[in-house]
Amino acid sequence: MNAPANPNKALWEKGDFTRIAATMRESGEALVQRLGITKGLKVLDLGCGDGTTALPAAKLDAHVVGVDIAKNLVEAGNRRAAEHGLTNLQFQEGDASKLEQLPDKSFDLVISIFGAMFAPKPFDVAKEMVRVTRPGGRIVMGNWIPNHPTLVAQILKISSNYTPPPPEGFVSPMTWGVESNVIERFTGAGVPPEQISFAPDTFTFNFPGAPSAFVDEFRKYYGPTMNAFEAAEKKGQAVQLQKELEELFNSQNKGQDTTSIPATFLRVTVAV
Ligand SMILES: C[S@@+](CC[C@H](N)C(=O)[O-])C[C@H]1O[C@@H](n2cnc3c(N)ncnc32)[C@H](O)[C@@H]1O
Repeated sequence: MNAPANPNKALWEKGDFTRIAATMRESGEALVQRLGITKGLKVLDLGCGDGTTALPAAKLDAHVVGVDIAKNLVEAGNRRAAEHGLTNLQFQEGDASKLEQLPDKSFDLVISIFGAMFAPKPFDVAKEMVRVTRPGGRIVMGNWIPNHPTLVAQILKISSNYTPPPPEGFVSPMTWGVESNVIERFTGAGVPPEQISFAPDTFTFNFPGAPSAFVDEFRKYYGPTMNAFEAAEKKGQAVQLQKELEELFNSQNKGQDTTSIPATFLRVTVAV
């Protein structure tokens, strides 16, 4: 018998997140530069996509493992590592809520930028991140903030108005952007609250075209937006959704001939 489909995996394998990730490279690199990564540091990038943060970490001579639930993104990451001649960077498939392939205390730094927040079972995710970090090591998460006026929080909010309600018991990924939830999850994994800190941070999406063309990229390649359009099309509301997203992207755009949109997120640092 076939194993039942994993909707979390299906969502991220559905489109081609590499198309969106391509617009996030400068911010990914800038964030990694701020993390004090040194030669030989053992780094896990969880929900790594095709390596927006894993690749610059490996360029700083860390030993980097990227784990992602989406097979297509793991393959894309390994292709990018090979193209850049990086033998200290490997991508593998895995689920942030069940990292059974990774031993306890095996990483100095666990990074998860808009990654682990999308895994179900947030308490299991926090436990797994703590388990694989060595004592004295760090976890750094980047999480979108619910209802924040900037880009991704608003895309997800607008999209949720068109999609059917989630199944009972579903915990929204956006809850990772609320400090009290983050504290509850990491203290549940045995970390004292004073070892958990927060700072607002910004990622800028840079796209070489008009904001409306960037909306089209989300519509064609970003799983959550693809699902929203599918649901909207069934109700005859796709034009309305496109219009709402174009208004959002236009209002947030700071670029002139191209699109440049800064988006605020919550940076979480956990000292293990
Ligand atoms: C918004 S993308 C961010 C990717 C990457 N961190 C970046 O900044 O470009 C979210 C990523 O989380 C991954 N993901 C979602 N659920 C996951 C899970 N349960 N375990 C591991 N990765 C997961 C997705 O496949 C996707 O690559």
